[in-house]
Amino acid sequence: MGVDYTAPVGVFDSGVGGLTVTREIMRHLPNEHVVYFGDTARVPYGSKSKDNIIRYSRQIIRFLQTKGVKAIVIACNTASALALDVVRQEVDIPVIGVVIPGARAAVKATENKKIGVIGTEATVQSGMYTKIMQKMDPEVSVIGKACPLFVPLVEEGFAKHKVTGEIIDYYLDSMRTSEIDSLILGCTHYPLLRSRIMDYMGDKIHLVNPAYETAMDLKHLLKEKDMVNDAITGEHATYSFYVSDVADKFKQFANSILPYDIEITQQINIEEY
Ligand code: DGL
Repeated sequence: MGVDYTAPVGVFDSGVGGLTVTREIMRHLPNEHVVYFGDTARVPYGSKSKDNIIRYSRQIIRFLQTKGVKAIVIACNTASALALDVVRQEVDIPVIGVVIPGARAAVKATENKKIGVIGTEATVQSGMYTKIMQKMDPEVSVIGKACPLFVPLVEEGFAKHKVTGEIIDYYLDSMRTSEIDSLILGCTHYPLLRSRIMDYMGDKIHLVNPAYETAMDLKHLLKEKDMVNDAITGEHATYSFYVSDVADKFKQFANSILPYDIEITQQINIEEY
């Protein structure tokens, strides 16, 4: 049996961060239906062990498969860095993450081959961005910095607050005085602090947003596998949102950053999968 090309794409994250990837999918693949899962009960993943991140990712993939998805995007840097290699072997649909697209874009953007990566503790400690980028170009040198407080600042709506400037200075001072010419926003929450980080780092630094690059990778993948949904004639595709906790808070946040308002966010028990 062939693949149902009208089936939705599954997208998941530890919480709201993956909405920055969903936003890019909505913008650049407007014909694709999306089923999103945010693991709001178990966020943050950035401080969890590899074993748990793999276990969570497996459960979410099983849940998304019950929705008949044709492909899955792991819209979380932490799960992409720690679980993608394992879980993509276990299913018969394509699974992509955000790390490879982000790494490729940074290697392309850098001129002096000095790249910074910011992300969660688990992402930075995994060294996955460094490994992938040095495989693409062995001359690249990489500095990593975990910025765990950026996640709650974004989730609490502090993106424009002055306290966020102090935290940015605390985390990124050493990046600013380093010789990097490109900086990867290696956590799906960070594009929501993009302008603050850009103001701080200066406009000579190229900020790489893996969310956009991932949407472009998905576009290529669907084309390559002959899975593009060209059956839509209406205004836009359908978007369904599921979370493991606090659906109302998620919906409010989603409606503040997505181009279309979410009508319903459904809570499910992810431990059942
Ligand atoms: N969305 C996660 C990521 O991109 C960050 C939040 C978390 O720690 O779960 O790594």
